[in-house]
Formats: sequence, structure tokens, C-alpha cells
Amino acid sequence: MGSDYKLFHGKTLAILSGGGDTPAINSSIECVRNRASVLGYKVYGIRQGWKGLLGDGQVVDLTFQPYNGLYGGTALSSSRTNPFSSKEGEDRVGQILRNLERYKIDVLVTIGGDDTNGAAKKLYEKEGIPVIGFPKTIDNDLRTRTIHRYDGQDIEAVICPGFPSAARTVARLTNMLRTTTESHRRVMVMEVMGRDAGWLTATAAHGGADMVLVPECPMTAERKEFFFERVKELYMRSRKRCLIIAVSEGVRWYDEATGKIDVVHASSETDEYGHARLGGISGVVAKEITQHLGLDARAQISGYFARSGECREYDRRLTSTLADKVVDLLLRKAYGQMPVLNKVVRYNELEEFNTSSIDMGSIGNIPLPDVYFDKNTFGVTDAYRDFLDHVMEPMHFMHFDYDFPVVVPE
Ligand code: F6P
Repeated sequence: MGSDYKLFHGKTLAILSGGGDTPAINSSIECVRNRASVLGYKVYGIRQGWKGLLGDGQVVDLTFQPYNGLYGGTALSSSRTNPFSSKEGEDRVGQILRNLERYKIDVLVTIGGDDTNGAAKKLYEKEGIPVIGFPKTIDNDLRTRTIHRYDGQDIEAVICPGFPSAARTVARLTNMLRTTTESHRRVMVMEVMGRDAGWLTATAAHGGADMVLVPECPMTAERKEFFFERVKELYMRSRKRCLIIAVSEGVRWYDEATGKIDVVHASSETDEYGHARLGGISGVVAKEITQHLGLDARAQISGYFARSGECREYDRRLTSTLADKVVDLLLRKAYGQMPVLNKVVRYNELEEFNTSSIDMGSIGNIPLPDVYFDKNTFGVTDAYRDFLDHVMEPMHFMHFDYDFPVVVPE
């Protein structure tokens, strides 16, 4: 039986990835590509997100190409190009429509966050382009409406492809920092990406961070006082006289000099969706710890490490499961939708029957829920530890507990 027997023979599906990359995008591309080609689609890849549909277009054929979904990042490249943010005289939507026609693309799968998928949904509503979304972000703040059942409670949580791998990296980096922090009896302030949400930063607790600062909890003048007291107390109590504090890049911090509370920007530029680049809060926190408490403190920005490296097991199975749901959406022509997980499960329990789809145009963002973060201790709760136990593979860290007898000269 030839390929013309297949349901979508003669049709073309194109995939693009937009926004910040994650370790799970290649896996998403591969999983969608494989399923689409089984359905009979010719599968194209669009380079550099929406940018690849402007001008003459940058389109590649993925149909019969070997693809390594375990390799992190995106082989199609990404950009933060916004189809609706044209410079004067530039008709981006017109160019996109023209290219979709030139390349004979019937369906578009957009791998992205709120921005990429929001733009895709707008193109579907305004121009009738059939689109299906696919979630991705290491920030884990897309409202996927995934329920975490913990201690008889239903918590609205999130699981986005890319987060489980990034969480593992953050936990591992935190744990690595412990040895140098111990050696120098320092306070180490480790900065973690995540923009407006603390999901990723809070995973540092899994790697042994003693305190966590998240954007959901602004550091007002009063909160800062309380924080410094707590730093001192924990440092003095620690057996090895050291402390690791994880801080989200998007934490708002009170500045005594200006009397204002704000985030720390790495640059004044904004991208085409209006997002500023954050970075540098760890240096501010470390400096003030030294000023207020006289402790030796250092800053370390984990930055792009969280986004880097290979796709881990949970993400692999998650992208595969969500791609199964994409098949269902394609078969039902349920355009404008994005697949999501219904409830938090362990990686070996990820199955298509635990998925549904949501409107990709109004996903919205969800902060780290209060029930996951303890404002009094600057720590994560048992509920969050349980959530992480589900989405991260077990990690084994080395310990060296010493208590050498002190020698007193005779
Ligand atoms: O949105 C994902 C993210 O990784 C954020 O956590 C971070 O603020 C941002 O991307 C950095 O993006 P860029 O690659 O533009 O520096």
C-alpha cells in the first residue's frame, strides 16, 4: 500500500519554535514530525520562529531526515519575532500569508509560550490559518490547568515541556555550588531565570538551597529586614557556616537609595513582545548581605545553563505524550488548541488519556502558588517537594559530613 493511502497524503504540516529555547524543543519537533508523517503529511520546519515566514521564507524539509530529539535546544532556531509588531510600511501578516501559500503549508504547529501561541491564535482567528499550539518554557508559568493532588487538596499546577530538564539542571548547579560555599564559609546567592514566576528558582531547594526568593513575594523594606534576620540565624545555625540562597531574576527588591521597589534589568532594551531583559539581582542581594551582616557573600548567575543541555527523561515522555494529543487535534481539526496534561503524574505514567487541550490564544501566566512557598521561612513547602518528586527523576548527591576533633596544644 503506497503513502497515498494515508489520511493526510498530499498535505503539508509545518513546525516552528519561537521564544527562549529549552532542552525539550527538539524532542517536541521530533515527536510531532514523526506522528504527522505517519498520518501522511509532508513535514516542514520553519527556521527562526515567525521570522522564517517573512521575506522569502526559510523553510526546510524534515519529512525523511534523521532528527535527534534528545539533543537540547531547537535545530530550527528560534527568535522573538512578533508577526503583529511591524515596523512602518512592513506588512508582516501579509508576508506570512504569502509564504504559507507559496510553500503550500496547510497546518502550522507553533512550539512556544504565551507570545508565540497567542500570535498564532490571532492569525487563525483573523486570517483563518489552521494552527495547533505546543507548550514550552523553562519558566513553567503557562496556565496548563494541570492538577496536582496533594494531601486531599487539588492544587492548580503547571507542567510545561522544558521545565523538568531545566529544573534538574538548577538542582544540580545548586548542589555543585555547595562545596565551594562550604570551603569559604560564604553565603552564595544564586540567580535563576524565570522572569515573573518562581517555579524554576524554587527547584533549587531540591538541590539543597537553604532559602529561596521568588518574584511572587516582593522584597519590601520590611520583608528585607526579616530576610536579613533569617539569613543571620540560618548561617549561624549551619554546621559548616555557609548558606545558599536562590534568587529569581524577577524578584522586586527595595532600594534604600531611591525608596523604590523594582526588578534589576540587564539591559534597557525590550523584545518585540515588550519584555525587558532581567539580570543582576544576585549581585545586589549579595552586596547587601555583606553590608548588613558582615558576612562574606558572593553572587552566581546560573542564567542560560538552565536552558542548556540535553532533554531529560520526563521531558522526553512528556513531549511524546503531548504529540499524541496533537494527532487527536489534527484528526478533529481542532485548530487554535494546545495540548496539556490534566494531572501531575510521574514520568512512567505519562499517557495520552491524561491530556486535554486548551485555547492557545488565552493561555495566560500562573505564578508559583502560595501553597508551594513558605513566606516565613523563605523555603518551599512539602506540597512543592511532592510536585518536584513527580516531575524530576531521583537525584543522588554526594555528602561529606565531618566533625574533626579539635587539637588543643598541651
Ligand atoms: O522566557 C524564558 C526565559 O528563559 C526567561 O526565563 C528569561 O528571562 C528569558 O527567557 C531570557 O531570554 P533571552 O534569550 O532573550 O535572553
